[in-house]
Amino acid sequence: MATLNKLFVTLSILSLFACSTNAQLFPNFYGRTCPSLQTIVRREMTKAINNEARIGASILRLFFHDCFVNGCDGSILLDDTSTFTGEKNAGPNKNSARGFEVIDAIKTSVEAACSATVSCADILALATRDGIALLGGPSWIVPLGRRDARTASQSAANTQIPSPASDLSTLTKMFQNKGLTLRDLTVLSGAHTIGQAECQFFRNRIYNETNIDTNFATLRKANCPLSGGDTNLAPLDSVSPVTFDNNYYRDLVANKGLLNSDQALFNGVGSPVSLVRAYSINGFAFRRDFAFAMVKMSRISPLTGTNGEIRKNCRLVN
Ligand code: HEM
Ligand SMILES: *[C@@H]1O[C@H](CO)[C@@H](O)[C@H](O)[C@H]1NC(C)=O
Repeated sequence: MATLNKLFVTLSILSLFACSTNAQLFPNFYGRTCPSLQTIVRREMTKAINNEARIGASILRLFFHDCFVNGCDGSILLDDTSTFTGEKNAGPNKNSARGFEVIDAIKTSVEAACSATVSCADILALATRDGIALLGGPSWIVPLGRRDARTASQSAANTQIPSPASDLSTLTKMFQNKGLTLRDLTVLSGAHTIGQAECQFFRNRIYNETNIDTNFATLRKANCPLSGGDTNLAPLDSVSPVTFDNNYYRDLVANKGLLNSDQALFNGVGSPVSLVRAYSINGFAFRRDFAFAMVKMSRISPLTGTNGEIRKNCRLVN
């Protein structure tokens, strides 16, 4: 009897969970309509990363910026035209979002195998997962069935994607607005264990801030002058920017966070401090929690059912 009760409770909780987190998304969504999808994405991402390891980071960032602006709906992939203003030229993306050609290449291969079936939003979700796994990170099962937006919002991109100058309370609010907790913020920021940032985004930190390791600031100043060199790059993880490990958190503990928004997670006070410390010594916990949080982020208000469309070309509405 007790066992039966337990089973019933488990089932109720499971169905409640399914209803509240867009049950329309599920891993086998294309199982019959595009069985080769995951093989194709993996093959194309392997090629892309062999060509340039950083691209895994760039695609991960694209996915974050897609999901934070009206949900994971492929809106960031739309090009501006004379009659359409998209998100690509919003402040956080202009001259810095990259990886669009890789998504195009995957889409072309997917269309050749199963035309007009798989959304660009789902391709981006799968490409992100594979990029991270190929750089040594965790892997996870991606819920699928997102459809593509017919619109995009430059103003939402300008206001809903956090700035690197943000403090902890602003970051917390902006993540909360997307249904993500302070814990999610802390683990998802670990994405900065891979990739690069431009001088203009960390100049103020290395010249003006005091919660920074002195040698680290000096090192970064060498390639980020007080004026000029705005687009000069530095690694977000000081040790291993093309390996998805937990060194980002070791950097934070050593006051070597590159962005103000990074060091904000480990600045003496506040609840993320203990989690940052934990991840800095326990890479396994970080990998596990990161995978879980990525699935959560990937479920931010998707278009499903008959909403949106399956774009033929990721850059254009049909
Ligand atoms: C918490 C707030 C965040 C802020 C303020 C922020 C800000 C930034 C900035 C300014 C850059 C450098 C861009 C450039 O110079 O071109 C960057 C890079 C990056 N961000 Fe974030 N980010 C945040 C959270 C995230 C999250 C949640 C993810 C993914 C889950 C992410 C993934 C990345 C990656 C992978 C890169 C490197 C991209 C590349 O090398 O092309 N970021 N971020
Ligand atoms: C340092 O802070 C001052 C005062 O806020 C500001 O005017 C200046 O531009 C900052 N310097 C850098 C290099 O960002």
